[in-house]
Amino acid sequence: MAAGLDFGTTNSSIAIVNQQGSVQLAQFPFAGNTTESYRSLLYLERLRETGRLTIKSWSGPDGIERYLAADDKGRLMQSLKSFLSSRSLLTTEVFGRRFELEELVARILRDIREKAERQFGSELRNLVVGRPVRFVGSESRVDDEYAVGRLRTALSKAGFEQVSFEYEPIAAAYHYESTLDHDELILIGDFGGGTSDFSLLEVGPSARKGETRQVIGNEGVPLAGDSFDAKIIRHLVSPALGAGTELDSGGKLLPVPNWVYFKLERWHHLSFLRSRETLAMLNSVARQALEPAKLEALLYLVTHDLGYQLHRAVQSAKVTLSHEERAVFHFVDGDVELNEPVTRAEFEDWIEAELLAIEQAVSSLLENTAVHARDVDRVFLTGGSSFVPAVRAIFERRFGGEKIRTGDEFTSVASGLALRADA
Ligand SMILES: Nc1ncnc2c1ncn2[C@@H]1O[C@H](COP(=O)(O)OP(=O)(O)OP(=O)(O)O)[C@@H](O)[C@H]1O
Ligand SMILES: [Mg+2]
Repeated sequence: MAAGLDFGTTNSSIAIVNQQGSVQLAQFPFAGNTTESYRSLLYLERLRETGRLTIKSWSGPDGIERYLAADDKGRLMQSLKSFLSSRSLLTTEVFGRRFELEELVARILRDIREKAERQFGSELRNLVVGRPVRFVGSESRVDDEYAVGRLRTALSKAGFEQVSFEYEPIAAAYHYESTLDHDELILIGDFGGGTSDFSLLEVGPSARKGETRQVIGNEGVPLAGDSFDAKIIRHLVSPALGAGTELDSGGKLLPVPNWVYFKLERWHHLSFLRSRETLAMLNSVARQALEPAKLEALLYLVTHDLGYQLHRAVQSAKVTLSHEERAVFHFVDGDVELNEPVTRAEFEDWIEAELLAIEQAVSSLLENTAVHARDVDRVFLTGGSSFVPAVRAIFERRFGGEKIRTGDEFTSVASGLALRADA
């Protein structure tokens, strides 16, 4: 049996086409309910088992539950996909042991495979897996191929034997096409946590007769929801944690080191702040800070590895801004409590550069393929970040609101990959 796997920066999904010919997404239990979105996070703890210290890991919903229940927090890693293109992150040390990035990613993928196998009652060794057009951090095609190679290694370590790759937006197109009774020239925009990807292709009954679709062009921007979050942290959270304040170093006023806040802004870097050296540095900064309470709050957040809670708080404010004009960023843990109001207009201002990059990518796709906006029949927007009104507005301006279709934001890619795997 062949499956389709969407290994997302934030959420992953896996699906098969069942014997009745319909797509079936794996369901994962979470908080007394089930979800098709498996959070792509990894949580590690050091345990003493039969007298020996071992490092155990949990991923997805299990990782979240284990992490939240732990008094003494282990290490929680988010957005690991964003490191795949990085040649500077080959290994990382966790509890004194070196782990290759591929091994960390493989642990998430293996858990997904085993859970899906139990559910579908069949071994899943053959896979069509999604890939972004451009990976986060990638500056060239060479970087993208390097990232694909590492993902391939991780998949093989996770027990998948036959793996082929498909662009994530093309997969979303297969999903969109499955209900179509006529031909269309379609532009897909898939806006996730890490990347924004675009494909232009013909879909519909005539295209479906051939095994593969006539793809006119692809384009990608290595930024999406995580970059929006970074801006919320920069403007709303970091100032409350001491960014831009000063410290008194023997009578000399110096700015608080800002690199810490850059790491805080990126989910895939955040848990790496909790090293002995950084904690010692933060302790010393907190002692000299002119506004020590803010630095102590930062220290608390880093010491307790609260990246998950911070992500949840940022996401909750962002989600509210997708349907309201204003929101309050609310974060509370221990003695740290942050309540920062934000309006949609401010948020849109903060993400202006990202919106521009998305708009330019759409322009280059149309220019490079010599397709005019009026010749595009439909625009299908999917992925969690397509909920952001300013993202949708780019397409409404360019193609007209009547051409826009949205839906299955978190599952369209996995569904399309399953259809592709079944073809
Ligand atoms: N209602 C919403 N409004 C704005 N952003 C949202 C909303 N819901 C989810 N998001 C954002 O969508 C992103 C996750 O989307 P998705 O699950 O499609 O990404 P992914 O597939 O994991 O990532 P990628 O495709 O880039 O690898 C997160 O950044 C999340 O904060
Ligand atoms: Mg995605």
